[in-house]
Amino acid sequence: MAESMKGLNRSHRCGEVSNALIGQTVTVMGWVQKQRNKGGIIFVDLRDRSGILQIIFEESECGSEAFAKAEKLRSEFVVAVVGTVNKRAGAANENLATGDIEIVAKEVRVLSEAETPPFPIEADSKTKEELRLKYRYLDLRRPDLQQNIILRSKIAANIRAFLVNEGFLEIETPILTKSTPEGARDYLVPSRVHPGSFYALPQSPQIFKQLLMCSGYDRYFQIARCFRDEDLRADRQPEFTQVDMELSFVDVEDVISVNERMLQFVCKEAIGLDVQLPIPRMTWKEAMNRFGSDKPDTRFGMELTDVSEVVANCGFGVFTSALASGGSVRGINAKGQAEMPRKKIDALVDFAKGYGAKGLAYLCVMPDGSYKSSFAKFMTEEELKNLVDAMQGEPGDLLLFAADKNSVVWNVLGGLRLELGRQMGLIDDNKFNFLWVTEFPLLEWSEDDNRFVAMHHPFTMPMDEDLPLLDTDPGKVRAKAYDIVLNGTELGGGSVRIFQTDVQEKMFEVLGFTKEAAYDRFGFLLNAFKYGVPPHAGLAYGLDRLVMLLVKADSIREVIAFPKVKDASCLMTNAPDVVDNKQLEELYIALALQEEAEE
Ligand code: AMO
Ligand code: AMP
Repeated sequence: MAESMKGLNRSHRCGEVSNALIGQTVTVMGWVQKQRNKGGIIFVDLRDRSGILQIIFEESECGSEAFAKAEKLRSEFVVAVVGTVNKRAGAANENLATGDIEIVAKEVRVLSEAETPPFPIEADSKTKEELRLKYRYLDLRRPDLQQNIILRSKIAANIRAFLVNEGFLEIETPILTKSTPEGARDYLVPSRVHPGSFYALPQSPQIFKQLLMCSGYDRYFQIARCFRDEDLRADRQPEFTQVDMELSFVDVEDVISVNERMLQFVCKEAIGLDVQLPIPRMTWKEAMNRFGSDKPDTRFGMELTDVSEVVANCGFGVFTSALASGGSVRGINAKGQAEMPRKKIDALVDFAKGYGAKGLAYLCVMPDGSYKSSFAKFMTEEELKNLVDAMQGEPGDLLLFAADKNSVVWNVLGGLRLELGRQMGLIDDNKFNFLWVTEFPLLEWSEDDNRFVAMHHPFTMPMDEDLPLLDTDPGKVRAKAYDIVLNGTELGGGSVRIFQTDVQEKMFEVLGFTKEAAYDRFGFLLNAFKYGVPPHAGLAYGLDRLVMLLVKADSIREVIAFPKVKDASCLMTNAPDVVDNKQLEELYIALALQEEAEE
């Protein structure tokens, strides 16, 4: 039977009861972590979001009625306890912040009883994630998850404080809106009032924040929910949170400067991390050539080497034919791995194929200096030696090569480098390597659509010196776009925006939009530009990713209170779900699915 807490006021959270309070009476409330009955004395670990506190019940102190209640306490009961803070009689528990004190109970009230939970409420849970997500409200009681959610709140508060102090205004933008330009699939919401019409949920506040610049708000930010219907991964959710900002009268340097200071402030406040400024920078081209990735993990080496020139005239057809069709041959050196068993090398070949490789050529420089290789027979001794030298290969090294068009070679070796880095234990978990990647290509060629698509989004400004190339060689144009990368994850991205109508119209033309189509989709922005628009630029972070990396979680699900699983469903609420026919009728929606079933 639930008792009332009438007349009691919680005086402290469990974790706040400290040595300084010894001798005082406190009132604490929380969940029973564990009850142990040792005959004349009952130990109860009481838990709330601040920590765990040991309570002891002795009949001589609390009386027989309270003692009887304490005997019946079970895990997850919600109780209120009034008692005196004592130095622990037994040995201190070094695992608890409150480990050298205990509460000697005088009074206890059972505010709520609890059934046995489907899994233990404890840190480092071994419970399967599906079960944890089905009972997320219980999972969220676990101390490690609570710490993540609490830190997330603190990080958001610090971001707000920093940006407000820098003169940014927090402004909300619509959730029910029109399709936005980030290139993922939209989530649509049918309109009841306009049968057959749909709102789109925003993939980002991009257009609205640019309009706010047109309206003179100067410095905007928002901690904004964004929606993208795309395949989920460990660092992707269908709805996620951006720290979104836009600034007027600025160029690349201004955006980078304010964001570096923000990252420094937030990391220090959140986890005591000192971020050294300036954060290193790398152009996109350098990142691809050295790391095979536009979000390089710079915590370890094993960089790519372009050996195209060295193998240009060799006898190995795989290499020369890749070069003949405009591609390249590049390699990585897995130091000390020459004696990797054949099976493991084969697994690397399969791994590379998963990244689009047609194959992976390998050469082991054996400790005695001889070679074991999948292609040695196609090359002369001298050609092999030159190749090994170019790779700075030494006895004991395993050299791996990919030959293909550049994009495939980068992707394959970039992926392989990370995999080997992990396998070989080269990645130092205690490092936080931030990196700006700059000068992204403006456009990329889409084989599917047979046209250029914007690499970032269509409002990104070309670099001044590359503007003329927009007419002659659009694929070569670099953009005033930048990404902020942390430990190999893209944390955020942004750009200087086009603010000249003629450049914007040209951009749409290159992207294959007719003028009518461009105005139909983004007319309100293009029109706004006609009435006086300041030069502007911005950036957006994935807040979930930032928190994930700072707490060293494996997935953003560990820092989102109610996340979705791989198929974009919520295991707790069962969303998405079917709706009543009446609701569908109001929306003038007939399900093709349903009709098929009825036929
Ligand atoms: P972008 O598309 O790069 O840029 O998104 C910015 C950041 O948002 C995070 N992010 C995601 N996080 C979790 N799940 C997802 N599905 C997901 N998609 C993106 C990433 C990413 O770096 N409007 C531009 C920003 C700008 O130009 O100002 C934009 O949205 O961390
Ligand atoms: P093959 O002559 O096709 O048996 O290939 C000989 C070796 O080259 C094998 O180890 C293949 O995995 C490798 N190989 C094939 N295609 C490529 C490629 N595009 N890049 C690198 N290595 C390749």
